[in-house]
Amino acid sequence: WQLIAPRDPSKPPTVFHWLPIIGSAVGYGNDPLNFFLACREKYGDVFTFILFGRRVTVALGAKGNNFVLGGKSTVLNAEDAYTHLTTPVFGKDVVYDVPNEKFMEQKRFVKVGLSTENLRAYVGMIEDEVEEYMNNDANFRVYGMNDINDWGMFDVVSVLQEITILTASRTLQGKEVRSKLDKTFSQLYNDLDGGFTPLNFLFPNLPLESYRKRDRANVKMTEFYVDIIQKRRQAGADSDHDMIAALIKQTYRDGTPLKDHEIAHILIALLMAGQHTSSATGSWALLHIAENPDVGEALYQEQVKYFGTPDGNLRSMTYEELRELPVLDAVIRETLRLHPPIHSIMRYVRDDVSVPPSLAAPSKDGVFVVPKGHYVLASPSVSQMDPRVWKDAQRFDVSRWTDPDGVAAQAFKAYADENGEKIDYGFGAVSKGTESPYQPFGAGRHRCIGEQFAYLQLGTLISTMIRKVELRLKDPVPAHNYHTMIVMPKKPRNILYRRRKFD
Ligand code: HEM
Repeated sequence: WQLIAPRDPSKPPTVFHWLPIIGSAVGYGNDPLNFFLACREKYGDVFTFILFGRRVTVALGAKGNNFVLGGKSTVLNAEDAYTHLTTPVFGKDVVYDVPNEKFMEQKRFVKVGLSTENLRAYVGMIEDEVEEYMNNDANFRVYGMNDINDWGMFDVVSVLQEITILTASRTLQGKEVRSKLDKTFSQLYNDLDGGFTPLNFLFPNLPLESYRKRDRANVKMTEFYVDIIQKRRQAGADSDHDMIAALIKQTYRDGTPLKDHEIAHILIALLMAGQHTSSATGSWALLHIAENPDVGEALYQEQVKYFGTPDGNLRSMTYEELRELPVLDAVIRETLRLHPPIHSIMRYVRDDVSVPPSLAAPSKDGVFVVPKGHYVLASPSVSQMDPRVWKDAQRFDVSRWTDPDGVAAQAFKAYADENGEKIDYGFGAVSKGTESPYQPFGAGRHRCIGEQFAYLQLGTLISTMIRKVELRLKDPVPAHNYHTMIVMPKKPRNILYRRRKFD
């Protein structure tokens, strides 16, 4: 029918599709990045596509990111977009199950648990966990050879998923979770995770066993955490550096302390928010390091330069030192540029909203209006690989970050200057503003609060691994698998490794 229906010129163009309800679900679901690029060619930076009956208006580029992420939360709303996915997994009364002001307070509480003092304590713990993991042949040698000088092979995602949960539980989640990271906890985690999929996002209420398992796991996981919280409360003063210790002490502005089940649900939310994002980023980083032995060598030499001791060993790092390693920092940034784990950031449109003409407009004097009831979507993946901003945009090129005067960095700087962005070559993302082409951690009021922790976790993990092994890749870096909530490398994703001689 859309062939004959006249188009309302005040609305963004709708992507052509044959099937009324399904719309563009297949193209978007299989490869959102190429879908967006093809649509941009045809329709420009702002267009609407149909996704199983939902109308999703995409706004591309740095200006599109600004439109979606910098919008007022009363108009472009995250709770309405996500709660049906997240509340059954995290539990009630936290995150998108509460009004945004309350969630903002909860984010503030979590920041206490991510204080610099806590982060300092985590470096050594993560180092220990990774070393112990790698020393255990049964873990690390997924397949392959046992002789020290031979090359072995491991599935990078499986290894990274295990290391990520081990390190997150040892640090943020706390010693009780770490010690229970046996079959029971992993089973509950897997059941929750099985309920955190694109299917759950698209169809919140299917009568499937995985949905029932998810609900049972939420109840059990909540009981598990509440038990820990109550024991901690009974024990009195808590000097642990973890999230439970931090959250127990927090009170809302109206004086009410956080309830046990709220703390439990925040811990589940953090577990889910950090697990796939970090394990995916770590996997992509190791794949690129393995593909570029010169990058692996540069990372290793950086370790030797900063941490080498007269007896030829490498000493432990401190948090402050970790933040000052340019090659390591650039590897993580470049990995997140090419593989931001979250390709689509969505908001529900509560009231009609005009698109700024500088982003897109139907004519010189007109404006597009995105109607109430649509979703809006920003995609950092597109702006982070835009050849208009990045030289050799598709190429993994660490030097674009390490060399602020290099051609690639200059291109980004020119863009940033033109748009009033401040480039911060320090630790973490480039810009805190909502209008930036580089936003792997989002922007605005829903911006990630786990960024510093993720850099610390990934930085310590990569350094500890690179100290022990050389990495190589037999095949090219795998393509993206977009069928999971977080973008993962497609199988096979095996990395060859060889222990360093002195090991
Ligand atoms: C929000 C990415 C790790 C906790 C976000 C958002 C992005 C993001 C893009 C914005 C979502 C939106 O606007 O709808 C990442 C990446 C990570 C990472 C790339 C790792 C490489 C973590 C970790 C934690 C965490 C480790 C917890 C310790 C959160 C929280 C939010 C958030 C609480 C706020 C959600 C909101 O305000 O609506 N993250 N994240 N993230 N992330 Fe992360």
